[in-house]
Amino acid sequence: MTGYLSDDKRKVTTHRLIEMKQRGEKISMLTSYDYTMASIVDGAGIDVILVGDSASNVMAGNVTTLPMTLDQMIYHAESVVRAVSRAMVVVDMPFGTCSGNPIKSLEAAISIMKKTGCDALKIEGGKEIEADVKKIIDAGIPVMSHLGLMPQSINKYGTYTVRAKEDGEAKKLIDDCLLMEELGCFAIVLEKIPATVAAEVASKVRIPIIGIGAGGQVDGQVLVIQDMLGMTKGFSPRFLRRYADLHTVMTDAVSQYVADVKSADFPNEKEQY
Ligand code: KIV
Repeated sequence: MTGYLSDDKRKVTTHRLIEMKQRGEKISMLTSYDYTMASIVDGAGIDVILVGDSASNVMAGNVTTLPMTLDQMIYHAESVVRAVSRAMVVVDMPFGTCSGNPIKSLEAAISIMKKTGCDALKIEGGKEIEADVKKIIDAGIPVMSHLGLMPQSINKYGTYTVRAKEDGEAKKLIDDCLLMEELGCFAIVLEKIPATVAAEVASKVRIPIIGIGAGGQVDGQVLVIQDMLGMTKGFSPRFLRRYADLHTVMTDAVSQYVADVKSADFPNEKEQY
């Protein structure tokens, strides 16, 4: 099966994402953290690849995204950028690198851009980091905002439940989205919020809203690749659709390999020199 837009080889840019919103074409986004996965995802026609700090969970096995360092994000992003020709590559600024000190935030942002060759950065947070976001955008770096459930703030909230269910929190979320658009962000990820609130935001701003657990009335969708491929087990939020059961496929393949090695079936005569 070829990619949805496989005949369109033009690089995806911030400008093209805004055009997609204007003509009502939904934006597809998935995470990747390594070369092999990113080359498959790019080849299949994805619009945006996120080198997410969810690498902390799915690649490193941590419980939260907090341990991820700048150097670790740079390592993952370099590997992804080497594999990608069409998709826009967006890299997460990890916890602690963008939190109220605009000069330091800009230094971290420049470091990711220079060392990886990625196209843009994603930053969690609203009004509290206004000055940081402004400084980074003013330096010519495209920023995708991330609001709603912000995994880097898990210790503040203590739970991964749906955000912005109360009127006050929904109002702050909408205000933060309007502010991020005004500051010049080219897109916003909204995570795990009521579909009605996400739809309201998407209709109020010109920039694309990419949802994860934010319903269908937004401009695009993002999932963690290991989750949507069914490689991970024990994480089944309502918003997750699994497109494959790679956990079973991979387990069966490894079990067969073990059996073949034990029985001396592998390698056979054709598989040796
Ligand atoms: O790090 C990540 O994978 C993310 C997505 C869940 C949006 O931020």
